[in-house]
Amino acid sequence: MATTVVILAAGQGKRMRSSLPKVLHPLAGRPLLEHVLAAAGALKPREIRVVHGHGGERVKEAFGSRALTWVHQAEQRGTGHAVRQALARIPARDVVLVLYGDVPLIQPETLRRLVARARAGQLAVLTAEFADPAGYGRIIRSGGKRGGIVAIVEDRDATPAQRAIHEINTGLLACPAAALSRMVRRLRADNAQKEYYLTDIIALAVRDGMGVAAVAAGSAAEVMGVNDKAQLAEAGRHLRQRITGELLQAGVTLIDPERIDIHGSLRCGRDVTIYPNVLFEGDVSLGDGVVVEPFSRIRNARLGAGTVVHSHCVIEAGDIGRDCEIGPYARVRPGVVLAGDVKLGNFVEVKKSAIGLHSKVNHLTYIGDATIGERVNVGAGTITCNYDGANKHQTVIGDRAFIGSGVELVAPVTIGAGATIGAGSTISKDAPPGELTVARSKQISIPGWKRPVKTPK
Ligand code: UD1
Ligand code: CA
Repeated sequence: MATTVVILAAGQGKRMRSSLPKVLHPLAGRPLLEHVLAAAGALKPREIRVVHGHGGERVKEAFGSRALTWVHQAEQRGTGHAVRQALARIPARDVVLVLYGDVPLIQPETLRRLVARARAGQLAVLTAEFADPAGYGRIIRSGGKRGGIVAIVEDRDATPAQRAIHEINTGLLACPAAALSRMVRRLRADNAQKEYYLTDIIALAVRDGMGVAAVAAGSAAEVMGVNDKAQLAEAGRHLRQRITGELLQAGVTLIDPERIDIHGSLRCGRDVTIYPNVLFEGDVSLGDGVVVEPFSRIRNARLGAGTVVHSHCVIEAGDIGRDCEIGPYARVRPGVVLAGDVKLGNFVEVKKSAIGLHSKVNHLTYIGDATIGERVNVGAGTITCNYDGANKHQTVIGDRAFIGSGVELVAPVTIGAGATIGAGSTISKDAPPGELTVARSKQISIPGWKRPVKTPK
């Protein structure tokens, strides 16, 4: 029995007070809807249908490359109306799983339990116990807590006694497609909001004698809805806790698990230490013994075993070998490959360059479009002048070369192996291996020269 997933994402999200459609707001660096799609995708459904409305084109654009079916709901006339729009030409033997675009922390395992009940022919409703159930639909059972579920009553339509119920409707449900189609067609908009409530199908199912199963969510956090920025921040906290919990479990030392942000996937070897206020983005892998000091931002990078990133570094991408030392205050831009035991010191920027084993670039330097060999020392304040205003050019530095401080290497240029470049040189022609090359004007002193003096006012 195949599963078709329907994701409701047509709402405007007024309470976000933003021009961005709600489901595009980022949670841990990815749009809310992407989290829901990831959970849905884990079930390997036949098809995922997304109901969009408000700002729909932007939502579609953001996910344009995905294999999704887009269903346009021009007017938001309620969750029941939205599902009805999405059920056109659905294979009758499918099971339909309804998810919300604004319930991002839902876990595949929970969804599997829900779908299993629907495969057994029941209408399966995902419920949770909330300490503060205000605003949610309440689960009504026959004959009290242990009885079967007979209806869901929306907060606005509930009596005071019903409002006292803490078992709530998460909104997520699964049902055999044919039964769901039949029931949503019978919905009426006779309620406080004049909307077609999907939740009214529970009472219909009971009337039809169809089994209704309440499936309990794994946690309250996974079914929390994001309706405003406070809930978005809260969802971020839950997600951080989930990720840091896994890292701690795996033996990673997080100096303060509350102060780390992981927007993407972070893989860690043994004995990794991460100090507070580090942001990881994209795919990052840290080898055994890596240390990342405070206030660094690392994205799409691999750091070899034993490498240390000192504080305040920005690594925008990089393939960094073992035992390297980076920063404090270094910037590694895309296209950088550092072999082992490379040192990049403070205020060093490196872009599209390869640096060989045991080489050092310790202070105030720009290296761009360069290939640097092994055991090279690049002096303080050295700059590769890689750009002529129109094109980028290469700088090549051979093994064991020593570049003095304050050197400008005007590319394209090659510095031979073992060459020494005198401090302050502007090198615009290739320098031969093994020799000292100096390119600066001779120092002169002018006898009797007087410094200008200020005329007193
Ligand atoms: C809904 C449930 C409520 C449940 C709560 C859980 C109904 C009637 N009520 O209430 O029982 O406790 O979710 O969070 O189902 N949407 C559309 N088209 C529409 C209306 C809504 O796509 O015409 C989408 C929204 O974008 C959102 C989801 O459906 O993703 C839920 O809609 P919302 O209006 O937020 O429902 P709630 O009032 O929160
Ligand atoms: Ca909601």
